[in-house]
Amino acid sequence: MKSILDNHVELKQVVDNVAEVAGYLWQKGWAERNGGNITVNVTEHIDDEVRALPAISPVYPIGTTLPHLKGCYFYCKGTNMRMRDLARWPMDNGSVIRILDDCASYVIIADKPVKPTSELPSHLAVHNYLLAKGSPYRASVHTHPIELVALTHNKRFMEKDVATRLLWSMIPETKAFCPRGVGMVPYMLPSSVELADATIRAIDDDYDVVMWEKHGVFAVDVDVMAAFDQIDVLNKSALIYIAAKNMGFEPDGMTDAQMQEISDVFHLPK
Ligand code: 13P
Ligand code: ZN
Repeated sequence: MKSILDNHVELKQVVDNVAEVAGYLWQKGWAERNGGNITVNVTEHIDDEVRALPAISPVYPIGTTLPHLKGCYFYCKGTNMRMRDLARWPMDNGSVIRILDDCASYVIIADKPVKPTSELPSHLAVHNYLLAKGSPYRASVHTHPIELVALTHNKRFMEKDVATRLLWSMIPETKAFCPRGVGMVPYMLPSSVELADATIRAIDDDYDVVMWEKHGVFAVDVDVMAAFDQIDVLNKSALIYIAAKNMGFEPDGMTDAQMQEISDVFHLPK
């Protein structure tokens, strides 16, 4: 079967990277069944040939109006699709969508009419916010990392920057490679517009990674690998914390002075 990827090298590279990350999410045990979703704004890789492609789905409402997404294109994981399947067959378990001129609806254009993720309101609302800000970020990843989700089951860690401080203090790399830390969003219904709005408020509070209480993590970055890396370093810190607790002690953590030194030397934003 012909694929949109056959003669679009850059688009294929983006989708190949999504497939690679999907495999990592499954291997890490973060992607049970259909858990998690990935979307990438691929508009910069779309040429006139793709722009002329007809819709292969009905017009679907986004559920909200997103003015900065007019004419944008996204690769989206399909709802109910498995990351482990997407890793091997990205165009059978995801699709490319076009946002229509009303900025409130979309159609699927390739390769198959695979309905996008149920978390599309959060993903698209965040892409809309990023474009409005002139951000270079093009990818968003939602996943269910076991240890980070476990942290959100404790009210203390849901307080502003308590989890950030703990995770940064476990190993220097975590502050270096997740330099804005984690924003916390209280429990809200998965796939709801309220969850989308709360996610944007948290990102606007200067975080690239947001924890959804008792559910998962939502991260944004320039591309899918970079978004994955931010979640990966955070979860590594959570694992170090748990390992120390399992050895029977509360880990000391790096001192405030040591963490400040990391910020100074690496010119970090916080
Ligand atoms: P989808 O299969 O619709 O992407 O949903 C998975 C998920 O993690 C919802 O939060
Ligand atoms: Zn989820």
